Amino acid sequence: MSSHGQPIPMTSQACGPLTGTAEVPGDKSISHRSLILGAMAVGETTINGLLEGQDVLDTARAMQAFGAEVTDHGGGKWSVQGVGVGGFAEPDGVIDCGNSGTGVRLIMGCMATSPIVATFSGDASLNGRPMARVTDPLALFGTQAVGRSGGRLPMTLVGAVDPVPVRYVVPVPSAQVKSAVLLAGLNVRGQTVVIEAEATRDHTERMLAGFGAEITVEDTDEGRVITLTGQPELRPQQIDVPRDPSSAAFPVCAALIVPGSDVLVPGIGLNPTRAGLFTTLREMGADLTYENERTEGGEPVADLRARFSPDLKGIEVPPARAASMIDEYPVLSVVAAYAQGQTVMRGVKELRVKESDRIDAMAAGLRANGIEVEDGPDWWTVTGAGHGNVKGGATCQSHLDHRIAMSFLILGMAAQAPVRVDDGGPIATSFPIFEPLMEQLGAALSREDV
Ligand code: S3P
Repeated sequence: MSSHGQPIPMTSQACGPLTGTAEVPGDKSISHRSLILGAMAVGETTINGLLEGQDVLDTARAMQAFGAEVTDHGGGKWSVQGVGVGGFAEPDGVIDCGNSGTGVRLIMGCMATSPIVATFSGDASLNGRPMARVTDPLALFGTQAVGRSGGRLPMTLVGAVDPVPVRYVVPVPSAQVKSAVLLAGLNVRGQTVVIEAEATRDHTERMLAGFGAEITVEDTDEGRVITLTGQPELRPQQIDVPRDPSSAAFPVCAALIVPGSDVLVPGIGLNPTRAGLFTTLREMGADLTYENERTEGGEPVADLRARFSPDLKGIEVPPARAASMIDEYPVLSVVAAYAQGQTVMRGVKELRVKESDRIDAMAAGLRANGIEVEDGPDWWTVTGAGHGNVKGGATCQSHLDHRIAMSFLILGMAAQAPVRVDDGGPIATSFPIFEPLMEQLGAALSREDV
């Protein structure tokens, strides 16, 4: 939905070759963390290339509510005057995190061990998502939480007055849960230990080290063991946010399926805990290359070059890769629709608790557009129609989910008949320039006046 609550129906139809350069915005995960860690440092952190999507703007507002000064200097340059670990003030009103699971879960973590009370809420999507995965480990520190049935928002957290350090084995592969526990551990004397069986995105660990925290990561038989020493003085940083691989996925996948396309997507963060989609696409036969590989701000970065790939084939995606491409399964399923043969995606139960149930949402829309999909609790398969054979012609529901809306608009770019989404408004949460950027490459998108 748009900010005034009206759905924005959008349509995408087959277009000529997509060509040119797609400069996608800053990484969403790193943008949230830049604001939050900036607020917990002592002094001024500067951020270049912050993603100015609604999710991140909601986190900026939340950090102000906890007492940090956040300033927008224009052109993606922001600064945060931090209050230090343990320096958060109690907010006056409800913290509205909008659509953002990352925002609310990380912010719950960073206030959970301060002697303050905060109430959190969000939109209909966020208020339906499970929060016990975060409040359960926070309870081990001594934090209390009262919310709606099923551990859902709105929810009030009472920060622990005398928190104790925690050793926690994360039961689901979730960077948000891991990060919430680490951020809570910052204001606790002693060592907080988080263990994850499967590696999830590690931006929190990398950035905590960059801000001067004492943090170690060890690969053991139990999994990745992360040990954080509490009550550091975090030093303010100058952060250059790399461009978001999860946003890059859309122009890359569009270029692979639209005949004649050749698109350059420069400066994309290729942290191995995020880059699983690109490996998968190459295994499917995609003409996708990494150019000008380099390291920026401690993160591997490259320019991606994607060209039309007429011979894509379905594959079995290794379940061990799921965490490194968890947000990219919706758009992968679109590429799978244009491939020959079946694409099998297993070990993806987490897709059911994202901004929407992403397996249900994609399965319904793909089937309506003539693609065969089967699904179970933690798996789904897409049987590709092959190039030129995707029917299209149907309306898909986006369920307040930006990645669902964008995926179906990509589906329409090479389909026989236009593909419509009931609401493209949520795209603004993570990729506010999606529409002009794709149009500038040659996509044929339109909005309906409602
Ligand atoms: C994120 C973690 C992932 C991902 C989300 C961003 C993060 O969620 O889906 O878009 O920045 O930590 P989970 O932790 O629920 O897997």
